[in-house]
Amino acid sequence: MTETNGKLSKADVLAALSEIQDPDLHRDIVALGFVPEDDISISGGSVSVKIVLTTPACPVREEMQSQAKELIQALPGVDSVDVTMDAAVRSTGIGQGPKVIEGVRNVIAIASNKGGVGKSTVSVNLALALRKFGAQVGLMDADLTGPNIPTMLGLAAGFQADTGLAIVERFGLRVASLGFVLKRGLPVVWRGPMIGTGVRQLIHDMPWGEGGELDYLIVDLPPGTSDASMSAAQEAPIAGAVIVTTPNAVSLEDAIKAVTMFEKLSVPVFGLIENMSYFVCGHCNERTDIFGHGGVREAAEELGVDYLGEIPLVTEVRSAADAGVPIVESAPESEVAEAFSAIAQKIAAKTSVQHFFAEAATAS
Ligand SMILES: Nc1ncnc2c1ncn2[C@@H]1O[C@H](COP(=O)(O)OP(=O)(O)O)[C@@H](O)[C@H]1O
Ligand SMILES: [Mg+2]
Repeated sequence: MTETNGKLSKADVLAALSEIQDPDLHRDIVALGFVPEDDISISGGSVSVKIVLTTPACPVREEMQSQAKELIQALPGVDSVDVTMDAAVRSTGIGQGPKVIEGVRNVIAIASNKGGVGKSTVSVNLALALRKFGAQVGLMDADLTGPNIPTMLGLAAGFQADTGLAIVERFGLRVASLGFVLKRGLPVVWRGPMIGTGVRQLIHDMPWGEGGELDYLIVDLPPGTSDASMSAAQEAPIAGAVIVTTPNAVSLEDAIKAVTMFEKLSVPVFGLIENMSYFVCGHCNERTDIFGHGGVREAAEELGVDYLGEIPLVTEVRSAADAGVPIVESAPESEVAEAFSAIAQKIAAKTSVQHFFAEAATAS
């Protein structure tokens, strides 16, 4: 007990909470400023505090909450404890570099060097997973040559053809896709400069922040080291790129190219996701490694980037996408949805770390 003569003080509470370390930032949560002093209230033996994390999708949120409760409870004179968890997502990309997207705190690019590996599926489901954690999330379909996001969200291709491109709200996400203005079946031949214009329009001419700042804008990039990826990287500060791949060798080779491209563009690579990792038979529950197994993890190690996790090949993922209600929305309790949530938490944590180091660098 302290100077307050046997009476519990805010300093005691802070001292107790400084035992808790943030696993990614390797510092205690009080030093990191996660415990606002104004939100500590002590009345007799009852204490209430608020812990403000850098993302609502924090992987250790519950753990921290119960740790905080225990630590405060152990202080002399405390009989009841209330710990509220909150989050304030910080924004990356302040300072030099490309123009910040108005109203967007963090841009996360989903890429691969190959089509059909599940970029759009991953983009949509990660966006929904982040939303379910309580974050404000946008989804931008930058795959100009094959915009699939409208179909995956049950929106008719070309439904804005006559009214002009606008953001729509779907399952709590703010979404924009050139597929909204391109009629189904009409082939569009984009050339280099047009692609740049298309991407620029999606990034800067859309009111992404209308209705409140977005914590995360997920960008579904077209496959390859194409003009669109280049434009996206030059048009906006990207907090990090996530590379989607399947475990077979050809696809992996392509993923490695994607990692190299982002490194050249000075975009941090958050890591690799192994999609269609294995198949679980709906009848006998037997697991089959259709495309082989383990290669993506090895490649990640070799490249010095993180392995973010695996998504199994599940028929419902495809049928949910075709039906316009993605699996995280239609079956949030399923194993696949949980795999998406776990990866979303890792990405959110990486974004926070990214911000922290950027801030530390500008401060020093
Ligand atoms: N984990 C998965 N399980 C089952 N089907 C999947 C899975 N991931 C993607 N698909 C299906 O594979 C096809 C290609 O995925 P898509 O996300 O469109 O790839 P990309 O955007 O990389 O071209 C789609 O029909 C999609 O529904
Ligand atoms: Mg796609």
